[in-house]
Amino acid sequence: MEIRGAWKSNTGFLLAAIGSAVGLGNIWRFPYVAYENGGGAFLIPYFIALITAGIPILMLELALGQKKRASAPMAFSKIDSKWEWLGWWSVSFVMFGIVLYYIVVIGWCADYMFFSIFKSWGSDTNDFFFNKFLCKSGGVWEFGGLNYPIVFAVFVIWFCNWLITYKGIEKGIEKASKLMMPQLFLITVVIIVWAVSLDGAEEGISVYMKPDFAKLRNIKVWIDAYGQIFFSLSLGFGIMIAYASYLPRKTNILKNSLIIGFANSFYEVFAGFGVFSVLGYMALKQGKPIEEVVTSGIGLAFVAYPEAISLLPWGQLFGVLFFFLLVIAGISSSISIIEAFSSAILDKFGIPRRKVITTVCIIGFFGSLLFCTHAGLFWLDIVDHFLNHFGLVTVGILEAIVIGWLYKTHRLKNHIVDNLGLSGNRHRVFKYIILQLWMYCIKFITPVALGLALIYSLIEEFKTPYSGYPVSGIVVLGIGWLLITHLFAFGLSGLPWKKEIIREK
Ligand code: ALA
Repeated sequence: MEIRGAWKSNTGFLLAAIGSAVGLGNIWRFPYVAYENGGGAFLIPYFIALITAGIPILMLELALGQKKRASAPMAFSKIDSKWEWLGWWSVSFVMFGIVLYYIVVIGWCADYMFFSIFKSWGSDTNDFFFNKFLCKSGGVWEFGGLNYPIVFAVFVIWFCNWLITYKGIEKGIEKASKLMMPQLFLITVVIIVWAVSLDGAEEGISVYMKPDFAKLRNIKVWIDAYGQIFFSLSLGFGIMIAYASYLPRKTNILKNSLIIGFANSFYEVFAGFGVFSVLGYMALKQGKPIEEVVTSGIGLAFVAYPEAISLLPWGQLFGVLFFFLLVIAGISSSISIIEAFSSAILDKFGIPRRKVITTVCIIGFFGSLLFCTHAGLFWLDIVDHFLNHFGLVTVGILEAIVIGWLYKTHRLKNHIVDNLGLSGNRHRVFKYIILQLWMYCIKFITPVALGLALIYSLIEEFKTPYSGYPVSGIVVLGIGWLLITHLFAFGLSGLPWKKEIIREK
């Protein structure tokens, strides 16, 4: 059995964990979700979701991974073998679901980085994206063959992921994060400063931040806030458990959780200023109200932005920087997903890392091809909706129940307190209060809040099929995907461990 990897420094770990959290979801998903759900007023449910579920689950996952020194399935198995499947399920649907299409979207960004140089989209960016680039077919089951420019970009992105994860924790993921994250922060600052100095930026920002408090009465706004926090902080993915398993004993989990949680939120709220400034500029140039130039998630990056790039002075440079930013934000997240699944296989079967990573990346590449056909966008939309709304949230609820009620939260709390490190004795009262609140959240508030979100989403789902897709598409790609990864997880948890698992009494 190979020796478990380890982070060289806490900073390296933090950069990798923030890299996992900050991804495509922060740059183009958050600003639109915020705008649609009440602008500035959305920050209220958003921060409530961060405090009642985001940071508590993040702290739970980090403490669990560090205490058990194990990936998600092994960590749950060490608590009770009955729960091993939960760990497998989270890393499986993320590996054989989310990352497959996530890498396809990074591939689109890579293609658009080159299109920016020549403004290849011409005057109709909508027609270019949907008809010429994606060659979008008439429906979910009309495949129409593969899109080769996308397949090529997807291959390159998988290759980059393989190259990084193959080298392990310190020499691969930590080194790559130390290289990518400073670039990511720098380019973000350049883009935002550039964007806010454009004409019309002020108008864009005021639309983004204008609070519409009436919207807070709508339960969907709250569900979206919890959904955004989960996806954005990479919770329920098994990532934070795996990443924390490579930390040394004396680590301040409390401080690390607060840094990761707030850095991620700060980044996305901040990124929104850049996104909306550009939209404000575009609206001014085209003489339209901003409401008309704002489009939904995917459309924002691939339809509205290219249009803005065509209008901007030095637009090509802006386009290359923006899409490069999306590529590095995406890769720093996708490597963490691959690591979460691979570390689980390493723990369970003791197969050498390089073999596991190579096999996982080859399978992953072929899996991504499912989203590279002319029906790829439909597949992506359905799988994304179901895995995010039902998969991640269900994992979050079960994690809170297993730790809060079966394992008992105070065991993890004692572990956190025992390992606070040198600074552990400072601000003792503050730490005491935070940890008490954390235990209370994990036992009561987090499972109840997430449970309500899940029930509401289920009711909505039964009222009307998601986005008007045919029932066959919803059943096979949505429910089917969740069920098959479930069966896969049960199958894996039934197999024997290479190494004996020592359970805590
Ligand atoms: N946390 C990653 C994102 O926001 C998956 O894109």
